[in-house]
Amino acid sequence: MEKKTVLTGITTSGTPHIGNYLGAIKPAIELSQGDTYNNFYFLADYHALIKCHDPDRVAQSTREIAATWLALGLDTDKATFYRQTDVPEITELTWILTCMCSKGLMNRAHAYKASVDANREAGNADLDDGVTMGLFSYPILMAADILMFNADLIPVGKDQIQHIEMARDVAGRFNHTYKKLFTEPQAVVDEETQLIPGLDGRKMSKSYDNTIPLFCGPDELYKLIKQVKTDTKAPGEPKDADTSTIFQLYNCFANEQEAASMRQQFENGIGWGDAKKELFEFLDSKLAAPRVRYNELMNDLGAVEEVLLKGADKARAVASPLMDQVRIASGIRPLTYVAAEKTEEKQKKEKSAEAIARAEEGRRRGILMQLKPLLAQVEDADDKPAMAKSLIADKTAQVESLKKKAKQKAQNELDVLQEELAAYL
Ligand code: TRP
Repeated sequence: MEKKTVLTGITTSGTPHIGNYLGAIKPAIELSQGDTYNNFYFLADYHALIKCHDPDRVAQSTREIAATWLALGLDTDKATFYRQTDVPEITELTWILTCMCSKGLMNRAHAYKASVDANREAGNADLDDGVTMGLFSYPILMAADILMFNADLIPVGKDQIQHIEMARDVAGRFNHTYKKLFTEPQAVVDEETQLIPGLDGRKMSKSYDNTIPLFCGPDELYKLIKQVKTDTKAPGEPKDADTSTIFQLYNCFANEQEAASMRQQFENGIGWGDAKKELFEFLDSKLAAPRVRYNELMNDLGAVEEVLLKGADKARAVASPLMDQVRIASGIRPLTYVAAEKTEEKQKKEKSAEAIARAEEGRRRGILMQLKPLLAQVEDADDKPAMAKSLIADKTAQVESLKKKAKQKAQNELDVLQEELAAYL
């Protein structure tokens, strides 16, 4: 069976945090190990422009997210790792898909609806206030990201499921209208990795401002962990691990044994200060090695750039031929373009003409064999033209006297004779 393609992207508008790592990067890297899938992972830098209009932030985030994937061990010989903007076919496809996408579908997109709702709640008469066309039609750019590589499986957070469904919708519309060129993708949502809590206990997310950067220095890491919300239980009092953000963060990085032992400490009434110290030391020990690698990469951005450009070549080797087909299918063609199917038909016709000629030649040779004695008579005669004329006259008389089928046979012979003896007649 052909390998399925896994694809996912991260928008380059923030600093990678522990939630990104556990929820997206780590599982994606795991899916690229082994030989089960084709993997396409990319930096969604055009997506960054939707919400972030600070160019330095976008540029810096792109560096950070690129270095993060590499520091965490993504094997770029196996996975195709690229920057969205290095594959211009994606934006070309975006336009063609935009023309395949009803506005009504985009009206229903969560991100757009959230902005409309916020305007309504704020009593703003213009419900579209602050909504750019980028925000409005962003699911189409995302559909192009996915369809350009005929991806099957898209690991995403829950908030993105709707976008994958929209990508399916648009793919179906294109396939139906023009030609079946696109795979309909499927979202893959890992429930477990949806539950990574941030400093305030809500889902760790840039929009809640509750994140722990993945590769901040140890001092910063400890400082942030000290800010994690806890209850007011005193040291010595048993604590509930399952409702504790400290425990949950610990658990995300722990194996079963480590988690069980921490749980025991909670039951034994570990003080919050000590629990935070343990969490810090534990996370620091897990992140120290990739952090070193990350800092090296951030100091050698030329090397990271090179990796990305190589990835772009690999990505374009897939995107470009598909984009050619998409253009042709939708009517964007060289003026001299002749459909391949038509050429095939023509070739078939030419082929059969050739076959007919070959059969004809065979038939003629058969008749000639039979006429050999007659032709020899002409060759041997002193007056060749007289002999030829007399033979033709005989044959003509024979044709006249015969009935249908036999007549046709004699007529064929006469035709060949006339051709062969044309010189004497
Ligand atoms: N929109 C996604 C997010 O905000 C990022 C993204 C862009 C993406 N293009 C994609 C994810 C294609 C999966 C597939 O998380």
